[in-house]
Amino acid sequence: MNILGIDTSCDDTSAAVVVDGHRVLSSVVNSQVRLHHPYGGVVPELASREHLRNIVPVVNEALSRAGMDLKDLNGIAVTIGPGLVGSLLVGLYYAKALAYTHQIPTVGMNHLEGHILSIFLEDDPPPAFPFVALTVSGGHTSLYRVDGFGNYSLMGQTLDDAAGEAFDKVAKLLGLGYPGGIAVEELARSGSKEGVPFPRAFMGPASLDFSFSGLKTSVALYVRRWRESKEEMAGVKMADIAASFQEAVVDVLVHKTLDAVKRTGVGAVVIAGGVACNKALREKMRCEAAAKGVTLYYPRPAYCTDNGAMIALAGYHRLIHGKGADLSMDVRSRFPIEELASFDG
Ligand code: KG4
Ligand code: ZN
Repeated sequence: MNILGIDTSCDDTSAAVVVDGHRVLSSVVNSQVRLHHPYGGVVPELASREHLRNIVPVVNEALSRAGMDLKDLNGIAVTIGPGLVGSLLVGLYYAKALAYTHQIPTVGMNHLEGHILSIFLEDDPPPAFPFVALTVSGGHTSLYRVDGFGNYSLMGQTLDDAAGEAFDKVAKLLGLGYPGGIAVEELARSGSKEGVPFPRAFMGPASLDFSFSGLKTSVALYVRRWRESKEEMAGVKMADIAASFQEAVVDVLVHKTLDAVKRTGVGAVVIAGGVACNKALREKMRCEAAAKGVTLYYPRPAYCTDNGAMIALAGYHRLIHGKGADLSMDVRSRFPIEELASFDG
């Protein structure tokens, strides 16, 4: 079954062709990083206009790299939420037009389901169900128990900022530009993670929820004092601030994820989403999981960040279970995964 996946939920225009929910024939991502760079973050209006310019060439490129025509497709999977409304609209309405004119079955997808299942795009053997998935990106930080395709239970989520958002804000504070995650990680490599004792929000032993706004404020206050009185804080480099901040985020993500693993008794953890590219997170999670006899899985960076392939893969499982949608579907800026029509696959 040849599925075209389309994702325009934020600032990447992406399309991919995936066969039978696994074999990626093409995955094209047009990044808008340079467009948003001067503003230090995504400007929604600019993002939707750029999607309009890019959606047709990106989809055509995905089809051509896959050596396919629209008539070869058995389905279209398109992200309808969560995300920026203007951006989502472009992908959805283009998908609807293709589906209508070429009579192709179509399904509206939850972006987070794509991230959770992105590990199944890899060639290595995938984790067995059930597993715990941490989706950690610019818009989300959530822990799920995953019992099968289409079968997810939310265990915890951020009550304020997403971890990627905190990375982006700290990068901005330190003058590292946008997007911030990679820049903070690179700077942190030459710093000491014990340099500054930033707070960790564990919020009581029973909570699997996250909070990063206090940490963000703490870094902002520290940076202000550090800039004003360099002598007083002599010896602390900007790299130490980056490394200490990163360590505070990683500590909380690893602790809560392994707590979720302990509560569920599963043998595997998956991390996905843009922040899952972070090597400090991967390393600490891998070591601490291994110490508990648990295996860590993460997709390659191109499948961690937003891409159409993960949407095609997740859409395949919905379409084979008869969960396609009619063309009256619309975008949903907020779309909790618990509201997905579930099935056991
Ligand atoms: O999954 P993604 O491409 O888009 C969303 O769904 O949000 O994630 C983008 C986020 C950004 O906040 C970016 O700064 C962060 O992922 N990110 C990283 C790294 N690479 C990307 N954060 C920390 N370390 C990285 N290496
Ligand atoms: Zn994402």
